[in-house]
Amino acid sequence: MSLAEDRAREIALRYNYSEIRIPALERIELFARSTGETSDVVEKQMYSFSDRDESETVVALRPEGTPGVVRAYIEAGLDRSDPEQRLFYSGPVFRRERPQKGRYRQFYQFGVEVFGRTDPACDAEMLVMADEICKSLGITTRCEVNSIGDATCRPAFRAALIEWGRAHLAELCADCHNRIERNPLRLLDCKIDVKLAASAPSSLDYLCENCRVHFDSVRTLAAAAGVETMINPRLVRGLDYYTRTAFEFMAEGLGAQSTVIGGGRYDGLVEAMGGAAIAGIGFGMGVDRMAIALEAAGLVPDAKPDAMVIAMGTDALANVVAMVRELRRNNLRIETGSPERKLKPLLARAAKIGARFAVIVGDNELARGVVQLKDLGSGQQREVGIAGLADAIANKS
Ligand code: HAM
Repeated sequence: MSLAEDRAREIALRYNYSEIRIPALERIELFARSTGETSDVVEKQMYSFSDRDESETVVALRPEGTPGVVRAYIEAGLDRSDPEQRLFYSGPVFRRERPQKGRYRQFYQFGVEVFGRTDPACDAEMLVMADEICKSLGITTRCEVNSIGDATCRPAFRAALIEWGRAHLAELCADCHNRIERNPLRLLDCKIDVKLAASAPSSLDYLCENCRVHFDSVRTLAAAAGVETMINPRLVRGLDYYTRTAFEFMAEGLGAQSTVIGGGRYDGLVEAMGGAAIAGIGFGMGVDRMAIALEAAGLVPDAKPDAMVIAMGTDALANVVAMVRELRRNNLRIETGSPERKLKPLLARAAKIGARFAVIVGDNELARGVVQLKDLGSGQQREVGIAGLADAIANKS
């Protein structure tokens, strides 16, 4: 487990989320119906193949976690029996993308989903939680937000984008030509002609009153809890299910792939997948990208052992395994030296791996209930009683 994942898990538990484990392999239709037929992820990036079962079911390695969580939520009947849920998950996801720094074909996501809440305080809490994960790791981020409207106001925005796209047909890239009718929102995401995309209509100009009030409220509530958001009117996210709030957290040191957390609201998804009309919102954190950001910021903790325990002699060997177990029970990080090697190379290795102490256990000393404790920093060595060894290593005595 990575530091970012550990931290995200701790924070999710404090925000009262429960863990859900979802399959890495699902029927392909699940992703086509949720992530979306017109998303790049489903169109180009899924690893899918026919199973050898009788009907040659086509399955896919999950390209994201949300669809599996929604499926499990509906299958368990929670949408009807107990709709309000906070769930988190983590694991590998797969996308056939062009690999580069921070972009891999198998990567790891930590994700959270909340069902049954439509209120802007929930969106704000989501932003605060994402911010909390980054802050607790020491990562500086920028939080960009947008609202892409709902079933009431989206059609007008969509129509405006199509009109704009048709007017700029000659200047648009080949991908965008396909997007015009199939998925016009993605025109805003054009990586090739960013300048042109900047002149496209903005969803914010088309929001209905309810969506506008919701969006303003999300930003105000997040700001009140210390999360300043920047509006990015071109932020539409690459997956088809989003409604209203969309957000991304960007970190430094990652080059082009700077988004470490991305998410948003998906109020129509549960119903579209056969469940009740229950709202949803969530985010996914790129665990690999967080690891790069931590490294770039020099925030990876030094994981050095507290001590290396070295047994010299037959009696020592018979006792050392139990002794080491006890030390580790005291929360000490302990390495052991191979009894097939001599003291000198073992001490050299202890120094190389950065152990603070070497504990040398000899037969004679053992008979007296003591060991030699060598401080590898100062080179000083002293005799320590076995009963007090853990405290001595922890510098308590
Ligand atoms: P996503 O933005 O596609 O959203 O992915 C979430 C995060 O996964 C990204 O912000 C990024 O950090 C990381 N990521 C994406 N692709 C790659 C890659 N090829 N290599 C390394 N890291 C990557 C989702 O997947 C949604 N399910 C999030 C969500 C949950 N929305 C609502 N609920």
